[in-house]
Amino acid sequence: MLETSVEPVGSGRASLECDDLRVTLAGAAGEVDILNGVRLSVASGDFVSILGVSGSGKTTLLRVLAGLQQASGGQVLCNGIPVDGPPQGVVTVFQDYAHSLLPWRSVRRNVALGIEDRLSKSECAQRVDEALEMVDLQRAADEYPWRLSGGMQQRVQIARAIAMRPSVLLMDEPFGALDAMTKASLQDQLQQVQALTNTTIIFVTHDVEEAVYLSDRVVVLQGRPAAVGLSLEVELERPRRQVATKELPEYLKLRHEVYAALGQASAQ
Ligand SMILES: Nc1ncnc2c1ncn2[C@@H]1O[C@H](COP(=O)(O)OP(=O)(O)OP(=O)(O)O)[C@@H](O)[C@H]1O
Ligand SMILES: [Mg+2]
Repeated sequence: MLETSVEPVGSGRASLECDDLRVTLAGAAGEVDILNGVRLSVASGDFVSILGVSGSGKTTLLRVLAGLQQASGGQVLCNGIPVDGPPQGVVTVFQDYAHSLLPWRSVRRNVALGIEDRLSKSECAQRVDEALEMVDLQRAADEYPWRLSGGMQQRVQIARAIAMRPSVLLMDEPFGALDAMTKASLQDQLQQVQALTNTTIIFVTHDVEEAVYLSDRVVVLQGRPAAVGLSLEVELERPRRQVATKELPEYLKLRHEVYAALGQASAQ
């Protein structure tokens, strides 16, 4: 199921930040600090990627930002206001699309899931059509998710998030399970969606190329407990192109810096 909280209509955009965030979780050997001193500030309309070695705390951070996990210290601010629980208008998309779609509902009705109780039938239909168009799935509207490819199913999940008109979209390795071609095509669709909607996006990924290609800023978590080790502005011109952008010296330099930061992180 999609874990979300959303305003009914036109929630607008939002900034999201956290200051001196600490998260302690219970492990087999007792309480463990997973994150400590995490400071992150994502301005309205920004695309920020979060990288870090496996187990560094990326999903934990996203869960805290989504209000699904309580911080042990520090706070999360949405539009400058401290939030307690899921902030309004923040929608999360997970990697696991197969378990987030309802098999007995058509694509259209899956996309409507987060808005159908809050909007009139015609408004809801309009939003669904608009979202399906953004991810190029109009033709599959009456199909069932289990008849679709993995990439198409993930597009349904993204369409559902878009239909809610989130102020902030949190994405946890949304393209992690997809092949390279599908992944590239979804990256470009997401890029287009963001250009159209100017949604604030926080995007967790293991893929350095993907992070640099999509983002305004790349953040690398380092250390145990983890904090922000690197925060790198990406000022590559938009719209970006899979081949041309990735050949730019500036792109290669940024890519190199992120790899170096991850190497340092895994050495710790
Ligand atoms: N519910 C939980 N209870 C206790 N410890 C947890 C829980 N969830 C995660 N952890 C621990 O917190 C640490 C960070 O986990 P998290 O899932 O945030 O990492 P990640 O960076 O998202 O990793 P990956 O790249 O593999 O998805 C890990 O050491 C993990 O074992
Ligand atoms: Mg994770």
